[in-house]
Amino acid sequence: MKTEVVIGKLKIKNPVLVASGTFGYGDELLGTVDINKLGGIVTKSLTLKPKIGNPPPRIAETPCGMLNSIGLENIGVDKFITEKLPILRNYDTAIIVNIAAKRVEDYCEIINRLEDAEGVSAYEINISCPNVKEGGLEFGTNLSMTAKIVKETRKLTDKTLIIKLTPNVTRISDFAKVCKEEGADAVSLINTVVGMAIDIKTRKPKIASITGGLSGPAIKPIAIAKVFEVFRNVDIPIIGIGGITTWEDAVEFMIAGAKAVQVGTANFIDPTASLQIISGIIRYCEENKIYDVNEIVGSIVIDSPKVEK
Ligand SMILES: Cc1cc2nc3c(=O)[nH]c(=O)nc-3n(C[C@H](O)[C@H](O)[C@H](O)COP(=O)(O)O)c2cc1C
Repeated sequence: MKTEVVIGKLKIKNPVLVASGTFGYGDELLGTVDINKLGGIVTKSLTLKPKIGNPPPRIAETPCGMLNSIGLENIGVDKFITEKLPILRNYDTAIIVNIAAKRVEDYCEIINRLEDAEGVSAYEINISCPNVKEGGLEFGTNLSMTAKIVKETRKLTDKTLIIKLTPNVTRISDFAKVCKEEGADAVSLINTVVGMAIDIKTRKPKIASITGGLSGPAIKPIAIAKVFEVFRNVDIPIIGIGGITTWEDAVEFMIAGAKAVQVGTANFIDPTASLQIISGIIRYCEENKIYDVNEIVGSIVIDSPKVEK
């Protein structure tokens, strides 16, 4: 059975990746998870300089999900290149480096530094973090800024360029369209949904930055609707993210149009979730006589809509 998926120049051995910020830099779970079995690892967002992130509390549990406002805490691109990449490049899996920045110039500088390093398979450009003051959502909700970031970063690399989109906009497919026009190879969606939770005893917000990013099963139906919207309107490979916990969830995303998926919050519950998802997808294909996993992508069946005239 064929499980390989191709996205731009990136070839991944199966369609399951671990999502940015939920698997460290890719090295933290080396002893726990058989990394070689993953389609790929998307690293924690890297910024040009190290970042300490937002003050605590910055995680709160909510029904069916979690709120976080980590604020892109990370070691910075240089330390990643010297301390993390040498470990990661020995693994037989794709290393997709996620990048965040406050300025277009900084996105470009980070890519320039990574282009000189060995072991990077692709880039995921994060323009969708809801938990930072500058950059993040400010870029991802602005069509002309999105266009500019894609245009400028595209000039710097032949590697696969994936743009990570936010659901916190009116029409996500408009953003995917701009990404395609400016030369992106793929879009990944969704990043977290802006959310809030309050402690009724203290009447204080449960996380210090008041609002945060909601992830986990609570956002799965939102994410699938966004994947389907982009699939219907834009001819660009989609990587689906949002609340994927089981192989059935992953297959649902693929039927809606996702070529590959990322597993995020589920890693905090069970770091081997993605491995179980991979074997579940393979079993599903075998049982349904599907010889190539790509056959599932966009195979949605829609009867003519039954709406009142
Ligand atoms: C604790 C935490 C940290 C995250 N950090 C990042 C990050 O640094 N960069 C990024 O692009 N997305 C980040 N995300 C978003 C995830 O990659 C993913 O898009 C989102 O959580 C939705 O998927 P899920 O419901 O499977 O978790 C983070 C999510 C969580 C829960």
